[in-house]
Amino acid sequence: MKRIITYGTFDLLHYGHINLLKRAKEQGDYLIVALSTDEFNELKGKKTFMKYADRKKILEAIRYVDLVIPEENWEQKVNDVQKYHVDMFVIGDDWKGEFDFLKEYCEVKYLARTPEISTTAIKQKLNEQKY
Ligand code: CTP
Repeated sequence: MKRIITYGTFDLLHYGHINLLKRAKEQGDYLIVALSTDEFNELKGKKTFMKYADRKKILEAIRYVDLVIPEENWEQKVNDVQKYHVDMFVIGDDWKGEFDFLKEYCEVKYLARTPEISTTAIKQKLNEQKY
């Protein structure tokens, strides 16, 4: 059983997220998503449209996702990898190189982002009343 982990906010879930989760799951057999909590987002100065419990509910309904755990700080990754016996850490290539320190503990893979779409872009376009 090959276990994969990925991290993110997954607010206003969109097809870029689905592409990422599908390809993450294809790397192994069991996909864990560490989902940023509202408190952690606040710390990062990020405000989500949906609360943690709702973002979690949506992720849990996705066929590629096996387990959702909270992401509460920047430092927990090594501990998560060890606790959940993770074989591979996966994230979009907007983070390329950032998590290479995890290579000591598991494989690390950066997947190409889906072009154009993002939660920020959705919010911006709605704001500009483009839809
Ligand atoms: N992601 C992706 N392609 C996109 C958008 C996101 O592959 N078009 C990936 C990110 O690289 C990350 C995961 O999806 O691995 C969760 O990203 P998140 O930051 O929650 O989504 P964004 O849409 O990028 O949100 P924001 O605009 O707030 O940064």
